[in-house]
Amino acid sequence: MSTLATTLESPTPESAATTTVVSGVQPSGELHIGNYFGAIRQHLALHSQHPAYYFIVNYHALTTLHDREALRQNTLHVAAAYLALGFDPSKAHLFLQSDVPEVTELAWIFYNLVPVSRLELGVSYKEKIDRGLTPNAGLLNYPVLQAADILIYGGSLVPVGADQRQHIEMTRDIAQRFNHTFCPEDDPLFPIPEPYILDNVAIVPGLDGKKMSKSYGNTIGLFDEGKALKKKVMSIVTDSTPLEAPKDPDEDNVFALITLFADKAKQEEIAAAYRAGGYGYGHAKKALLGMINTYFGDARERYHDLMARPDYILDILREGGENGRAQAQQFMERVREVTGLLTTY
Ligand code: AMP
Ligand code: TRP
Repeated sequence: MSTLATTLESPTPESAATTTVVSGVQPSGELHIGNYFGAIRQHLALHSQHPAYYFIVNYHALTTLHDREALRQNTLHVAAAYLALGFDPSKAHLFLQSDVPEVTELAWIFYNLVPVSRLELGVSYKEKIDRGLTPNAGLLNYPVLQAADILIYGGSLVPVGADQRQHIEMTRDIAQRFNHTFCPEDDPLFPIPEPYILDNVAIVPGLDGKKMSKSYGNTIGLFDEGKALKKKVMSIVTDSTPLEAPKDPDEDNVFALITLFADKAKQEEIAAAYRAGGYGYGHAKKALLGMINTYFGDARERYHDLMARPDYILDILREGGENGRAQAQQFMERVREVTGLLTTY
């Protein structure tokens, strides 16, 4: 059985010396195992290999969440989750986006380089509007703030889920436009960042077989446990093949989830049991439940300990934010200089 993954192949060894990793996580609700396998695991794997800035994007969350208590709680939840899952604050910076207000200043500067028509074509923007969210200006400009997030720390590598590919494309475009518009050709200010998307990261299915997502109400929370977790696992939708009959593991949601937790040998053993017959979906669900408990059990305990000490979490975020902000302020001095924005202090 795998344990929490902490190493991944380094993407471009020759550039490792100059790689700065940046990524953001939305505090928009309870994190689920889709978030973990799609994004968080990659964040954790990279954070100790390169200088890294990870921030909880509470300004971004305001595009859709207007509930003070929920935003605060979600923010602490995300921070505690990262720490519980293995983020080491002595190796990289974890902080609040709103502790570096300079990102909003840089976003303003970037707005002037981005055609509105381009933003209106944003896949994620259109998808959110289709879901019924209000098309406010924040939602439209979301990718520009994301570009500021990345570029203000000189980010060059951005680990994200596959759905973020277009946002990173926009960031690259904005960095190029900025360099082209304001910098001498031989002295560009912004590195052009690369997305780091693991090709073998599957879309994690939810309880109903659709993509696991908060908005579909089909999630398994990262820290679900006990009866509530069992109830969810037992409710995973399967077909009605009887227990004795052979089954195709590749057509089954339970097996798809098992592949996230089990090593190759265990996966093959269970797949063979599916094909042989006499192994029911109930057996598979039991196996999956055990794997989830083993995989996240220790992190769950650490998570509860941390949530009982919010001041400790805030101390870590504060320190991360001081480092992030110092870096951002240095960049902003250069940005103001090359754009001609005078300041008198
Ligand atoms: P969200 O909060 O839905 O925007 O997701 C945050 C991150 O988790 C994104 O980078 C997504 O790619 C990733 N993610 C969310 N749901 C899933 C899923 N079902 N499978 C894989 N990755 C996911
Ligand atoms: N849009 C990202 C998501 O939904 C969150 C995000 C905001 C981000 N700023 C970022 C990701 C900067 C990477 C880098 O997952």
